[in-house]
Amino acid sequence: MTRRVMVAANWKMHTDAGSARDLASSVLAGLSDELSCEVVLFPPALFVEAVVTLVSGSQSRICSVGGQDLHHEDKGAFTGALAGPQIASTGARWVLVGHSERRHVFGDDDATVGRKLQAAVRAGLTPVLCVGEQLAERDAGESVAVVTRQLEAALDGFPVDQELVVAYEPVWAIGTGRTASPELAQEMHSALRAALGGRDVRILYGGSVKPANAAELMGQPDIDGVLVGGASLQADSFLQIIRAA
Ligand code: PGA
Repeated sequence: MTRRVMVAANWKMHTDAGSARDLASSVLAGLSDELSCEVVLFPPALFVEAVVTLVSGSQSRICSVGGQDLHHEDKGAFTGALAGPQIASTGARWVLVGHSERRHVFGDDDATVGRKLQAAVRAGLTPVLCVGEQLAERDAGESVAVVTRQLEAALDGFPVDQELVVAYEPVWAIGTGRTASPELAQEMHSALRAALGGRDVRILYGGSVKPANAAELMGQPDIDGVLVGGASLQADSFLQIIRAA
């Protein structure tokens, strides 16, 4: 089974209206349809529509856009929140769900993550479900148990034939410069693949991915791409990672 490699950029709460456009334009200028991977940009929600417009205008056949989070309800009195149908109405195709910053800074628990996953599907967005253990959990030897629990809780009732991407992002590796070794990442991806049963799902690695480590990570048999934070904020380094794919 060949799974198309995905290289995704999570811009988090960085860029502004001007620099988001500039960054998207510079990335698009460096892409060619000959590349075999798929590229997904996750700008801050406020700039998703502008980036969608730039991607459509570039006629890139490998690039698309997603939101970084969504509310689990489709509409209502939830000041400041964004619903799946609103994100989808901009032309976005994807949405991150359960990113560690949502789980650990904003308190999204497994049940909320599961509801958000269902909301994404109702809106016609393909979810990228993020899972990952914290350092204390790794030190306690609980890494596989933690990510398996996160995965199973989120996928409870999730249709088997629904497209899904999973991102394994060990919390201790996010934004710390401390990347999981390719061997450790492969071991975790293989455990996640087993927990996914027969589902045909791409599993991305995220956590301090850089041009220098991207090729080796993506060379592992169960690593189907990367979710890049810091190194996606410069077009040059993100394009180097794309070429490494
Ligand atoms: P990082 O972030 O590449 O800056 O570690 C990855 C992520 O949080 O998705």
